[in-house]
Amino acid sequence: MAVSSPDPSPGSPGSRSLRVRLLVSGAVAAVAAFGVVMVVPDASAAAGTLGAAAAQSGRYFGTAIAASRLGDSTYSTIAGREFNMVTAENEMKPDATEPQRGQFNFSSGDQIYNWATQRGMKVRGHTLAWHSQQPGWMQSLSGSSLRQAMIDHINGVMAHYKGKLAYWDVVNEAFNEDGSRRNSNLQGTGNDWIEVAFRTARNADPSVKLCYNDYNIENWSYGKTQGVYRMIQDFKSRGVPIDCVGLQTHFTGGSSLPSNFQTTLSSFAALGVDVALTEVDVTNASTSQYAGLTQACLNVSRCVGITVWGVRDSDSWRSGESPLLFDGGGNKKAAYTSVLNALNSAGPIQTTSPTPTGGSTSSPPPTQGTGNRIVGAQSGRCIDVPNASQNNGTRVQLYDCNGQTNQTWTLTSSKQLTVYGTRCLDAAGSGNGSAVQIYSCNGQTNQQWNVNSNGTITGVQSGRCLDVWGTGNGQQVQIYDCSGQANQRFSLN
Ligand code: XIL
Repeated sequence: MAVSSPDPSPGSPGSRSLRVRLLVSGAVAAVAAFGVVMVVPDASAAAGTLGAAAAQSGRYFGTAIAASRLGDSTYSTIAGREFNMVTAENEMKPDATEPQRGQFNFSSGDQIYNWATQRGMKVRGHTLAWHSQQPGWMQSLSGSSLRQAMIDHINGVMAHYKGKLAYWDVVNEAFNEDGSRRNSNLQGTGNDWIEVAFRTARNADPSVKLCYNDYNIENWSYGKTQGVYRMIQDFKSRGVPIDCVGLQTHFTGGSSLPSNFQTTLSSFAALGVDVALTEVDVTNASTSQYAGLTQACLNVSRCVGITVWGVRDSDSWRSGESPLLFDGGGNKKAAYTSVLNALNSAGPIQTTSPTPTGGSTSSPPPTQGTGNRIVGAQSGRCIDVPNASQNNGTRVQLYDCNGQTNQTWTLTSSKQLTVYGTRCLDAAGSGNGSAVQIYSCNGQTNQQWNVNSNGTITGVQSGRCLDVWGTGNGQQVQIYDCSGQANQRFSLN
């Protein structure tokens, strides 16, 4: 089948899950007006694809995509239908993007990026600094020239994808099994190479979440897990910019699901980072391991999504272990059903009633003027300027409401949302995933917002909605296509 007319993406207005959720939300509204705690969705809202099922709890379900397979219609049909996040399997790695020093090539990476975003999917960049899949010229460098080449590579690649990606795996696989640093040419440039990579990346594109990614860090009592944990803890304590940890979750090649996986996820999350399962595959697609790893993610609020490392068994880098959710013919395997069922039976979203206002889900029209908090409907948390910073470019986040000036916004007659009198809520770009930050007020349309009666706040320049992917303290705010879901509803009060 040709893919010229893809199915609606899971979050798009035409998708089944959203229609169900909208119907359900009408009923919720009527009851919520009387102050009852409601749960949605009910069993009848079971979603029919992995992406839609994950979206019910605000998560994504992704796959690795190989550009060379996109012409295979079985492959692209499944991928376009089931997933809402994409990682390029090889096409954004250093050997692909900078084959000659200073000469960048984004043709295959862009092919995947365009394919995904045309279908409403988000994209994870993979990867910027890694001991493996370096171009030949980089392999032969060392010392300060390699350090500079790494910085130039990060700047070059991130400039191309600036404002376009949801996540970047900034550094991949930098640890040994015992928790010490891997002895790579990058490590040879100095132990600070990882934090330099992250600082460079934050400067290059403040809109994208920056992740450390590794394998064999799923077992909490394993040396490598502890080594990575200590590094993230150190980075957070010293203010090195890092937003997320990717656990590759290759339960292949001799590894399997540890019983303490959830403990690992929640322990990393407790450091103040998002976690994600980034490259999942499981030997012979064990249904219990697939269900278990899915459930572990669902049980941790900062586990933002799951990505499997390929579509069909025949597409897998470990095809001999038949580790994926579709067989070589494109049929759903038992593991597919176990994952879908786990996603569909995820703890329902709890909705506490708003102030009784007579049965409408809409927030009251916003009050123009001073002293407003901007409170997330899903999180109950406030839009907050971290550390009360007044610096231009400081990205705003969700945080426990505390009534302080860094959470106090004024809606002006020219549609600005000002803070501290002089700074404006500002979109760093207009694409999906662009950061929302503070900046000196300048009257431009990326600083103008429509505060809508349905609870959304849309950027005048982009037409996109203020959006958060999670509910925890520190969750960053971005703009994204309006989906009608609770993570895009806010009240000014
Ligand atoms: C693998 C790809 O799947 C293969 O096609 C390629 O030959 C080697 O790399 N950890 C990672 C991924 O972070 O980038 C690797 O992908 C698998 C292990």
